[in-house]
Amino acid sequence: MGLKEVARRIKEVANIVDIIGEHVSLKRSGRNYLGLCPFHADKKPSFTVNEERQIFHCFGCGVGGDVIAFYMKFHNLDFAEAVKELARRFDIPLSSSSDGESSERRRALFEINEKAKRFFEHLLWASEVGKAGREYLKQRGLSEKTARLFGLGYAPDSYDSLVSHLRLSGVDLALAEEAGLLVRRKDGSFYDRFRRRLLFPIKDSSGRVAGFGGRIIGEGEPKYLNTPETPVYHKGSILYGFFHTKAAIREAGFGFVVEGYLDLLSLYEAGVRESVATLGTALTPQHARLLRGLGAEWFLVFDADEAGFKAAMRAAPVFFNAGLFPRVILLPEGHDPDSFVREHGPRAFYALKDSAEEIFDFMIRYLTGRFPQNLEGRLALFQELRPVLEAIKDPVLLELKLGQVAERLRISESALRRGIKVSCEKPVCGKKAPSSERALVEFVIHFPEYLGDLLEAGLLEVIRDSRLRALLEILKASQGVSPADLSLEDLALQSLLSEILLSPPPFEGEPPEKVAAEIKNWLSNRKSQARLESLLEAIKEAEASGREEEALRLLREYQQLRCQL
Ligand code: CTP
Ligand code: MN
Repeated sequence: MGLKEVARRIKEVANIVDIIGEHVSLKRSGRNYLGLCPFHADKKPSFTVNEERQIFHCFGCGVGGDVIAFYMKFHNLDFAEAVKELARRFDIPLSSSSDGESSERRRALFEINEKAKRFFEHLLWASEVGKAGREYLKQRGLSEKTARLFGLGYAPDSYDSLVSHLRLSGVDLALAEEAGLLVRRKDGSFYDRFRRRLLFPIKDSSGRVAGFGGRIIGEGEPKYLNTPETPVYHKGSILYGFFHTKAAIREAGFGFVVEGYLDLLSLYEAGVRESVATLGTALTPQHARLLRGLGAEWFLVFDADEAGFKAAMRAAPVFFNAGLFPRVILLPEGHDPDSFVREHGPRAFYALKDSAEEIFDFMIRYLTGRFPQNLEGRLALFQELRPVLEAIKDPVLLELKLGQVAERLRISESALRRGIKVSCEKPVCGKKAPSSERALVEFVIHFPEYLGDLLEAGLLEVIRDSRLRALLEILKASQGVSPADLSLEDLALQSLLSEILLSPPPFEGEPPEKVAAEIKNWLSNRKSQARLESLLEAIKEAEASGREEEALRLLREYQQLRCQL
């Protein structure tokens, strides 16, 4: 894989706002983020980051570009160095010619993790100390089969069990520290990070052990201890269980997003295999991309408490912007997926899908109970939803969601829109339209060789003027005849034709083949645009009459079409 290709893949997964946000404090402002420019002595924030286009620009000093350009400039790297650095962070392999030292190191980190995983597994199943772990598994209702499949292990209550094991097998302890397995003391010696814990190896989407989560056996603090960020472990781009469950999710066409390691394992144990778990973090755009890749319908499973609601609020725009429209399953008070499935069984868990609500409906319903039902209350409710709406980048989708919210809240749409900071930029089809209908007809009269092509692309459908339309109909019917040789019965049309023939061709100075190509492009965009509009109508209608499945299906089609444009 060449560097260019690697760069392209980086840009697919890296979000410029996150990357720049690590170095520059950014504040959202409309569709952009603003901050003080790191490249010149900036007094007022002139440094702009646009998430949608994934670019930055400073209106003070004029520096700008994509995420790689930022990285080069900020860290003073050349292109190759910046690409390598970012590829390492986002777990993108480099070709053998350009990988060199860093990918070698990553490979070594995965290898150490694998070694540690085997050691912890051995301790869990084959040792006296592992008894505590085995008993804990039993207590949590997990079978040996499931535990082995996921590679669960046990870290004993000792500061040097992994240290000694690794030392004996000749592993570089500094590298084990870099993998997050060991911690270095002030005097330079190392000790085990994970102690008295049940360990869950966290695999990346290709099954390599990127890190570990560890649950304390019994009570104690912290309940969970996880691998810190390392060159191979980024919790924002890994989902627990994904590697093991992706095939089942693809096959079923749906999946559950849960919050805990044990939730996922307990579901799996009960036969509900279609789930993934986040790693104690909010859902990121990279997560959403992983989810989207499985082409499934997603159900977010939350506890019925304030934290669950907040998580849904945060997740909603991330999903929407990835073109996903998840539904929400709210568990009965006091339950998490683990306790629910153990108490009620897999069928009851699957049945929760039937009553799952679209995420916006869920938020509105949840909030409705909290505010008075007068106009004031409804406006206050709207204020709560506002950040979620404002995070929707697609103007048409925003429009649609606004309509839904307005309807649910019985607030006029225009009142809502005035409350929204987002300006609906240009319409979906950004291509410039040819100057006028007349110019289009003039063009095919002067260059009849493009007539057939353009008619096929839908030229007739865009001409509204009745005389121009009539003329074009005649041209269509007499293709092959030069327009100059036509004699028309309708004198008004005849004089229009001659007038056009005698005037200079339109789009002067532009080569006709280029103009023809542009018109064709515009026409086909317009067709898609019309299709988008009719889809939108159909979505609204399906939603209004409660045909949710259909609405979701259409929304997905809508999103796909928009992505293609
Ligand atoms: N988590 C974490 N660090 C913590 C607490 C939680 O990383 N200190 C993450 C873990 O991934 C955990 C998830 O958040 O699985 C959910 O946490 P929580 O609901 O507290 O725990 P449960 O998964 O329900 O675990 P258990 O049933 O063992 O209490
Ligand atoms: Mn739990």
